Amino acid sequence: MRVINTRFNLKYDNVDEYGFMRPENFDYERYEKFMSSYLVILVNRSKKWDKLMKKGKRLQRGLVLKRYVKKGIPSSYRAQVWMKISGANELQIHQESDLYNTRLNSVLDSDVVQAIRTDLPRTFPDNIYFIPLEGSQEQLYRILFAYAADNKNVGYCQGLNYIAGLLLLVTKDEEISFWLLKVLVDNILPDYYSRKMTGLMIDIEVFARLTKSKMPDLYRHVKSLNIPWSLLIMKWFVCLYAEVFPTETVLRIWDCLFYEHSPILFKVGITLINYFRKTLLGCDNFTSFIEVFKKMPLDIFVLDCHYFMKRVNSENKSITNALLQKLRKEIKSEKKNYELNQLP
Ligand SMILES: *[C@@H]1O[C@H](CO)[C@@H](O)[C@H](O)[C@H]1NC(C)=O
Ligand SMILES: *[C@@H]1O[C@H](CO)[C@@H](O)[C@H](O)[C@H]1NC(C)=O
Ligand SMILES: *[C@@H]1O[C@H](CO)[C@@H](O)[C@H](O)[C@H]1NC(C)=O
Repeated sequence: MRVINTRFNLKYDNVDEYGFMRPENFDYERYEKFMSSYLVILVNRSKKWDKLMKKGKRLQRGLVLKRYVKKGIPSSYRAQVWMKISGANELQIHQESDLYNTRLNSVLDSDVVQAIRTDLPRTFPDNIYFIPLEGSQEQLYRILFAYAADNKNVGYCQGLNYIAGLLLLVTKDEEISFWLLKVLVDNILPDYYSRKMTGLMIDIEVFARLTKSKMPDLYRHVKSLNIPWSLLIMKWFVCLYAEVFPTETVLRIWDCLFYEHSPILFKVGITLINYFRKTLLGCDNFTSFIEVFKKMPLDIFVLDCHYFMKRVNSENKSITNALLQKLRKEIKSEKKNYELNQLP
């Protein structure tokens, strides 16, 4: 199970399914233990999805599909299902058919091009597909270029490289990655990547307020240590947990993200913080708090994606799109102009 990809398994035996190299101190024993039980679940889920995919050409939204998505989409269906449940397929149908290639042939400001180029070697340097000669870097460049040309208001923004990079690793298709990136940034997330990142700043404040209502002691503790919430969770939200969480867990989060949109991003963060609440409360200075906070995503609790997502989806169900909309509206009316230097 360590390596599924046959192209590389002679050269690398410490690489995961998506091409990420394991760190030196990777705990294989613990991982294999989790994986042996998770594989049974995957096989079980796959059979159910096979039936669903055979039946439903259209993947009807509803309780059944929602339950299936929450329990994880098999990797063989991910690209196809993400395109459908996110609305990217619809979007593609209603746009000019060759939008991707049209955008690739556009002209972009040289500073945007330069910003993309600068981030390429920084994107997943621990992934064998992003080794310069393997070609994925150029594919990633084209996806980011095409998106920047498509949405000049956003252009390029750090964080998009990780999202597009992981989309590419999962779908193995540039054009599908472009459409999924487009639907995420244009439709699913509220203004995270424009220059002022207004939507992102507001969502960080929303997160802080949710924490305040769910875990007032922790909220007070963070405040007493003078830690800005942006420092804690900005990266989670900008990268949609890619880069920070184990890959399989990120993909399980994205399964839900494409279906139900923002609530999953909040539920994941709240569940994780809640799980470590006592430990975090025990950290009585800035440095020790940050240290524990940064290590949380590497805990077995998060690596065991099936159990983790079960917890995420069963706790904090009250975090819905409607609640988020209400909080965002409140914050917007309180603070008219969010800037990076006015972070919550
Ligand atoms: C598949 O999972 C379901 C629920 O998790 C369980 O009831 C069922 O027995 C499993 N089937 C197989 C073949 O393992
Ligand atoms: C989230 O779930 C946990 C565990 O059930 C609970 O203690 C906490 O109050 C919930 N938080 C919110 C915001 O609902
Ligand atoms: C912060 O707390 C940790 C653990 O309690 C302690 O080891 C460390 O010395 C503290 N650092 C400062 C700067 O007080």
